[in-house]
Amino acid sequence: MNILIIGSGGREHALAWKLAQSPKADKLYAVPGNPGMAEVATCVPDVSITDNDALVAFSKSHDVDLVVVGPEVPLTGGVVDAMTEAGIKAFGPTKLAAEVEGSKSFSKHVMEKYGIPTAAYAVFTDADKARAYVEEQGAPIVIKADGLAAGKGVIVAETKEQALEAVDAILKDEAFGVAGSSVVIEEFMEGEEASLLAFTDGETVRPMISAQDHKRAYDGDKGPNTGGMGTYAPAPVMTKDLVDEVTERILRTMVKALKAEGRTYKGCLYAGLMITKEGPKVVEFNARFGDPETQVVIPLLRGDLVEIMLACAEGTLDKVDFSWEKGAAVCVVLASGGYPGAYKKGVPIDGIKKAESLGTLIFHAGTAEKDGKLVTAGGRVLGVVAKGMDIRSAVDRAYKGVEAISFEGEFHRKDIAHRALERL
Ligand code: AMP
Ligand code: GLY
Repeated sequence: MNILIIGSGGREHALAWKLAQSPKADKLYAVPGNPGMAEVATCVPDVSITDNDALVAFSKSHDVDLVVVGPEVPLTGGVVDAMTEAGIKAFGPTKLAAEVEGSKSFSKHVMEKYGIPTAAYAVFTDADKARAYVEEQGAPIVIKADGLAAGKGVIVAETKEQALEAVDAILKDEAFGVAGSSVVIEEFMEGEEASLLAFTDGETVRPMISAQDHKRAYDGDKGPNTGGMGTYAPAPVMTKDLVDEVTERILRTMVKALKAEGRTYKGCLYAGLMITKEGPKVVEFNARFGDPETQVVIPLLRGDLVEIMLACAEGTLDKVDFSWEKGAAVCVVLASGGYPGAYKKGVPIDGIKKAESLGTLIFHAGTAEKDGKLVTAGGRVLGVVAKGMDIRSAVDRAYKGVEAISFEGEFHRKDIAHRALERL
């Protein structure tokens, strides 16, 4: 069958790499794709990922049988609805179901209604009322723009003053545009974070292997928040009992809740968790695979991803056979100097072949080809991924790959998986 992957990051490269291994996969297309994905797929840079009509037209004219959606924006823009209407199977939630990520207030409302553990919260559109609530609750407290804000709409305020400033930035100065027409104010949760993603066909829910992201730019979890500087899987904080508990009380309950609300959810449901003293609580739901969680989770999948994704679209996920490898995987992100602020683009990249010969997988996140040479084209440039029998050997191998790659201004965290290593 022919498959179209929407997106251009490390997550989509990892998905394309795995999909291409399926005996069911014939031709792979990527809109727009990236130079790494071009090794397994035909890249289509001239179709926009938010133009549903153009995506449907391309899928029809290229006999696409399955569409796999990477990022949240096309999902909340209804690309799965458009494909379904056109009779094309798609992996991902509908526009209404994708609101679990697209609207934090909707997501919190459903969690509250169905008893899914999460931080206490309140929603405001009026700045004075929001400010009064902050005054009453005190700090630390968490302020979130309601809609999609490309991962930037969350302020963890350590003081009341910071919280009040954040409320004003969102509601008065409209720092996040329409995403900030309302604000969600949450209780601050303390604990270790982890992610548990699941495949679902709207009924059956099957968890993936747990993972942990490193969102801060610098070692020791210091510096500004980023899209993710590295990941590892599994996360030892997610014991087998915890995985079972989160699958049951959080993922399965949410899928059932969404069905009851008339928004049947299919695809990958991502639970961002805080493991608190009172147990696991939801930080956020995402309507898609995590980036860079996918880069460590998918290489540990023992099974046919095409078959799994088709089963999610068709409602037969209970019939598919797959499992997770016993070892561990680590992803170290190589970033452009200056990221997450301003950075240079078009810088030549060296050493990928050498890193691959050392047994690492290189997933492209922000690269381009210029005059036949691979150059940087984004803040997060590459993900260097290694698997191992255990976390220690995966970390060692990943960093050997990292050493082999160079580009001007390159930086990466040197402590990916430190929480897992500290537990050894
Ligand atoms: P989000 O975009 O909702 O995942 O938030 C980004 C980050 O902010 C999370 O990964 C957490 O580190 C932090 N965060 C969000 N909500 C809370 C909360 N209620 N308590 C503590 N930290 C939070
Ligand atoms: N790694 C966090 C996310 O994908 O939202």
